Amino acid sequence: MIPDLAHAVALLQAGELVAFPTETVYGLGADAANPLAVAKIFAAKGRPADHPLIVHLPGAGHLDQWAHDIPLAAWELAEAFWPGPLTLILKRAPGVPDAVTGGQDTVGVRVPAHPLALELLRAYAQAGGGAQGWCGIAAPSANRFGRISPTEAAHVREELGSSVALVLDGGACPVGIESTIIDLSGDPALPPGLLRPGHITPGQIECVLGILPEMRVAGEGREGRDTPRVSGSLNAHYAPTTPMRLIDPARLLDFINALRHSGRRCGVLCHTQPPHAGMPHVWRMLPADPEGYARGLYAALRALDQAGTDLIVVENIPLSAAWLAVADRLQRAACGAGAA
Ligand code: TXA
Ligand code: MG
Repeated sequence: MIPDLAHAVALLQAGELVAFPTETVYGLGADAANPLAVAKIFAAKGRPADHPLIVHLPGAGHLDQWAHDIPLAAWELAEAFWPGPLTLILKRAPGVPDAVTGGQDTVGVRVPAHPLALELLRAYAQAGGGAQGWCGIAAPSANRFGRISPTEAAHVREELGSSVALVLDGGACPVGIESTIIDLSGDPALPPGLLRPGHITPGQIECVLGILPEMRVAGEGREGRDTPRVSGSLNAHYAPTTPMRLIDPARLLDFINALRHSGRRCGVLCHTQPPHAGMPHVWRMLPADPEGYARGLYAALRALDQAGTDLIVVENIPLSAAWLAVADRLQRAACGAGAA
């Protein structure tokens, strides 16, 4: 075991917070079986305590500890996509702390694909896991509540500073946006619910299950309209502090020019062509394919936010299924931007 990993395991077992890379974004980890440790996550993020967390597992073999009444579909999806960027919502097993589930009767679980995350989870399991010998690391994205998710170790330090005992540095996250969330806690005769789009697409889920997941709006949980089942599905989320607007590619240059003439400084996020050469604006260019775009999105938004302009202008992306997850993040970021 590399020294940082041994240290990370010891900290987790002592109820401290450890941030670690996953293939999607950096997670802020705590022993999922220890309610006091989990409470530190909510304090560090400034996140409301009724928002449930995802429990990260070393492998599907640990599922029975955290979930019960596991439908065949869950085993099929785990077989197809784990380790990988897919979270399953299942009926929770007895003994799973309310702190993790936000008091709901379901639990979110996933096996991350990042080698460092997997090494950490396996080392944790080998060292006997956490409270009661259970082996799961609860980890939301390691950002302040509502803000841009971190995709590099330095972002975690910027977001959370000294409230996290250790940040494991695994470089930039290869997927760049949060995992796809599929709800399998309902009637197995009905289609599964897609609670958050991500790198794994509805079409890929359909290929495995033979049925297309159904888009579910947040807040439709059985437990009451006021409890968001997916905090990332609050309208304002993943947001920069600078106001942000999505602009159709055909109107981008005119819009930027108009801003310039009105004396407002803007930062531009584009993907087809960089704004006119010579324009005195801050800009970032992302790849024009959805995977490449997703990988760079949060780091680009973070950089544009830090450039201190009056407005972030985003060249709108195509309206197609392949861009579903990116469109979701951009719309929520635009909705929450400038709110701080
Ligand atoms: O890619 C990811 O999923 C990252 C990495 C770190 O694994 N984690 C992440 O965690 O995005 P977080 O907390 O930022 O978002 C997890 C989402 C939340 O919106 C939460 O509401 C939802 O998962 N969730 C967790 N448990 C749930 C449950 N039992 N029912 C419905 N939604 C749940
Ligand atoms: Mg998050």
